[in-house]
Amino acid sequence: MNNNEQTPFDYKKAQEDATSWFNDYYKEANKEIETVAWAKGEVNPFLQEYLDNFSGTPAKAIVIGSGLGDDAFALYAAGFEVTAIDISEEAINWAKERFDGAEIDFRVADLFDLPEELLGEFDFVFEAFTIQSLPLALRDRVITAISSLMKPDAHLLAVCNAKLDHEKFEGPPWPLTFNELRLFTMKQCRELEFSIFENESALSNLKVRALFQKES
Ligand SMILES: C[S@@+](CC[C@H](N)C(=O)[O-])C[C@H]1O[C@@H](n2cnc3c(N)ncnc32)[C@H](O)[C@@H]1O
Repeated sequence: MNNNEQTPFDYKKAQEDATSWFNDYYKEANKEIETVAWAKGEVNPFLQEYLDNFSGTPAKAIVIGSGLGDDAFALYAAGFEVTAIDISEEAINWAKERFDGAEIDFRVADLFDLPEELLGEFDFVFEAFTIQSLPLALRDRVITAISSLMKPDAHLLAVCNAKLDHEKFEGPPWPLTFNELRLFTMKQCRELEFSIFENESALSNLKVRALFQKES
């Protein structure tokens, strides 16, 4: 064997390793919301603020890594036609049960293998804490996948824990540097807002809410 032979990075395995634990985690929570580390059982306050100030016509929205479904329901209640995707079947079933009767297209889907019919379909995308839940090696791929869901001119509201460049985190999760979140600007999106907040959570000292718009 040639010692100079390089082994290509196995993205498929990295994706499987990074995502396979979520379903068991939700299963073990046994329908107790308080045991899910990221779940609050209510809409993300940054999304609620966006909706409170929204003056456009509600259109097609998608929630990424929709977890227990509160953000999808808030969009639905605001009049959007909502799709909510999560890799965990347990999470999707739990969300369906919690919001039974709401016409939300809750579906199991993998960001790394998105169904063709979702690509370029949405006017509004909401992402909270999913990018940071996946390892750094996959960051570019997750951001590319999220951007691929957006129609021309669509808005993306992203919320994440953030860190300074020199800070190190043994994830999951892996808070984002500002530049990592700004990778969206290299994926046909322009930055409309980028707000940095102090964070009271034990996870990292900073939190970011960013709004991007897909190019026309
Ligand atoms: C940290 S949780 C955040 C959940 C929700 N956004 C919230 O704020 O409560 C990350 C979510 O992303 C989902 N997820 C992880 N990898 C995914 C993938 N490749 N495709 C779709 N969903 C994924 C997980 O199952 C989990 O529900």
